[in-house]
Amino acid sequence: MQTSWTTPPPPRDTDPSPAWELLLPAASGPPRGRRRELGAALRAAIRTGRLAAGTRLPSTRDLARDLRVSRGLVSELYAQLTAEGYLTSRQGSGTWVARLPAAPEAPVPRAHPQTSSAVTDFRPGLPDLSLFPRSAWSAAQRGALARLPDAALDYPDPQGLPELRAALAELLSRRRGVVVEPDGLIVCSGVAQALTLLGRFLKHHGQDAIALEDPGSPSEFPLFTAAGLRSVPVPVDTEGLDPVALAATGVRAAVVTPAHQFPTGIVHSPERRAALLEWARRTHGLLIEDDYDGDFRYDRAPVGSLQGLAPELVAYTGSVSKSLAPGLRLGWLVPPSGMLAELVEAKRYSDLGNTVAEQAAFAAFLRSGRYDRQLRLCQRHYRTRRDALISALATHLPAVRTSGIAAGLHLIAEFPTELGPLLPAASARAGVRLRPLGDYTAPARPTPTVFVLGYAHLGVPEITRAVAALAAALPDIPVSSVAV
Ligand SMILES: Cc1ncc(COP(=O)(O)O)c(C=O)c1O
Repeated sequence: MQTSWTTPPPPRDTDPSPAWELLLPAASGPPRGRRRELGAALRAAIRTGRLAAGTRLPSTRDLARDLRVSRGLVSELYAQLTAEGYLTSRQGSGTWVARLPAAPEAPVPRAHPQTSSAVTDFRPGLPDLSLFPRSAWSAAQRGALARLPDAALDYPDPQGLPELRAALAELLSRRRGVVVEPDGLIVCSGVAQALTLLGRFLKHHGQDAIALEDPGSPSEFPLFTAAGLRSVPVPVDTEGLDPVALAATGVRAAVVTPAHQFPTGIVHSPERRAALLEWARRTHGLLIEDDYDGDFRYDRAPVGSLQGLAPELVAYTGSVSKSLAPGLRLGWLVPPSGMLAELVEAKRYSDLGNTVAEQAAFAAFLRSGRYDRQLRLCQRHYRTRRDALISALATHLPAVRTSGIAAGLHLIAEFPTELGPLLPAASARAGVRLRPLGDYTAPARPTPTVFVLGYAHLGVPEITRAVAALAAALPDIPVSSVAV
């Protein structure tokens, strides 16, 4: 039991300055009723935590003036609540809210064994958040904030800070072959916001549907639904999004992930890219290029952006979610020039622009070359982890076939058909969580032997241990039994 009913808690370092007139009812009625009323309001504010323990109360003189009551009434009120244990005071040094005895603790729910941290979750799409360059980012933030003139703290240009747009235009044209000038790019809150703005634009211009890759990213569907568009799944084959199936839908906008299709890992072939651009030309349609993990490639030549081939047919989007952290909510959109002005207005009326301080920090981070270093660092780590996963599978589960391995943060693993019924129990026993490819199809289809394995967020020892444990929980299967 707490003893601090009567001991004054240490005063807070900062004066939280609650609006006393809002917490306590304004003057009304005779003084006696008024004291009761104020006492009830103060007790309730303390009990519910609106006035936290340690909050310093105003002097009797100040509160009396604010509430337009006599100072004597406030003194009586303080004395009464001090006697009841709600307040505490020290002669000559003030009155504080006392710490009330803690409510009995709620029972802690028992952890289900499956949710223990011992489970290795091969969740795709997650970077290693421990690689976030905290000190370099803090330095960039401090430096940027020190340099920003006061006027820059006003509402920003909704298109993005000019210095960030300049640095991003340089980065995207150098690394991804995007055709862009600083004035042609919009800074936004990740790919998700770019898709939302584009979805609303399409809806506003009379479109009612959008084609999405199948399998594809499950997060896109609800974004477009919220923008008022119907999502039409279009199959992905071994070369990428099927242009014949796309044409058959009759829609005039499609989202593609050409550098490393999500989640199959397919790199769209040059012929397929040409066919998709031809579709866009023929239908006066729009391709939305989601370059979500295009920065990470391992053993294949760089594949430039689709946008670089036809900037007037493609809206290009990407973000720092895989290279720095999804929590930063920082991304970019490079639309065809004719769409730019309307999209900037849509961004303005969506949130009045991204935060100035983070934009300035990111601009400094890019200019200093620190972002390139971060990409190289992530690339090294992710390649090592991908290699560890492929080698652990080859060693412990040689009958498993992998694909989509040349880039990105995940790969596809296909188990022999006869293991399908055994895998749920075996992975639970091994403490491994696997995501079936069918979770990414529309509608969800059972794929008991094909899984999407994200590896970027897992250390090499954990990857190796998890694969070995999974193998130990499964019977031996000869390599030749894998379905081709
Ligand atoms: C394929 C794909 N595109 C886009 C996103 C959303 O990215 P952002 O964080 O930039 O909004 C994700 C999220 O993981 C994704 O997997």
